[in-house]
Amino acid sequence: MGRIKSIAVLTSGGDSPGMNAAIRGVTRSALYYGIEVTGIRRGYQGMIEKDFVRLEAGSVSNILARGGTILKTARSKEFMEPEGRRRAYGNLKESGIDAVVVIGGDGSLTGARIFCDEYFDIPFIGIPGTIDNDIYGTDYSIGYDTALNTVVEAVDKIRDTADSHNRLFFIEVMGRDAGFLALESGIACGAEAVMIPEVKHQVKNLKSYLEKEFKRKKSSNIIIVAEGDEEGGAFDIADKVKADFENFNIRVSILGYIQRGGTPSALDRVNGSALGYAAVEALMDDQKSVMVGFRNDEIELIPFRKVIRLKKKIDPNEMKMVEILSA
Ligand code: F6P
Repeated sequence: MGRIKSIAVLTSGGDSPGMNAAIRGVTRSALYYGIEVTGIRRGYQGMIEKDFVRLEAGSVSNILARGGTILKTARSKEFMEPEGRRRAYGNLKESGIDAVVVIGGDGSLTGARIFCDEYFDIPFIGIPGTIDNDIYGTDYSIGYDTALNTVVEAVDKIRDTADSHNRLFFIEVMGRDAGFLALESGIACGAEAVMIPEVKHQVKNLKSYLEKEFKRKKSSNIIIVAEGDEEGGAFDIADKVKADFENFNIRVSILGYIQRGGTPSALDRVNGSALGYAAVEALMDDQKSVMVGFRNDEIELIPFRKVIRLKKKIDPNEMKMVEILSA
């Protein structure tokens, strides 16, 4: 069974629906193997402040359907400093924790990697959790599916108004550095255009598209903008367009934090559970410094070093599809 007798689990960075399924997956799988489980509250900050709680099978009852994270989360500045990590290591050792499972996004996995480079004797396993779905090495990250469905539901509603009033809507969705949510919600909602950080100079293209559109007189136009677009957020882009298209009836809508919360979809619950289970299995196989992820529907282990160094790319075919299908 290996030398691991006690593990800890934490959630870090932005919360995402399905994190609780992963916490439950980790907890119950570890208990099955006779391993003690500690929940670390508030991510790495809780590791530094020793905000630890013992998790039993009952501690994770009835959490599958809950959004957010029962362990709470944080973005810890202190953990970015060597002194913070030194204190965190001391607390793990003092509590007899042999391994840690980190559920979070890019920044959280980067923190795990730095820690593991400094302290070799406590293996870390990562689970991708972010609604942005921008983590290299996995097709899926926990929360993306729920957020995508939330966006689709909201955009469908806005489409009714856009259609009734012949309006052009700029709808801003989350994605500070990545456009996956914008792009795929755009496909799902039949957006007329999608503006994402990965593609440059889109305002120019948008203007030539709108020139054609004006002649065609579509009854509604929806442009989905990722919040991190290099040409600005939805308000900025609307302003750039307004001056040249006075005849368009333009409105802006920012979807904001509703995208992060809510009951997790079935997919996020199933995949969150599967990744929680896989993380414990990886520890049982003496793995360390790897993330468990999905590629082509199979669970794979991807080294932190790759997850951090490489950037997940959007599929250019999907961009083309938006253009062709919105004709
Ligand atoms: O969860 C990812 C994300 O939603 C990004 O798209 C966004 O920029 C960021 O979190 C904002 O989160 P916060 O306001 O919690 O820092």
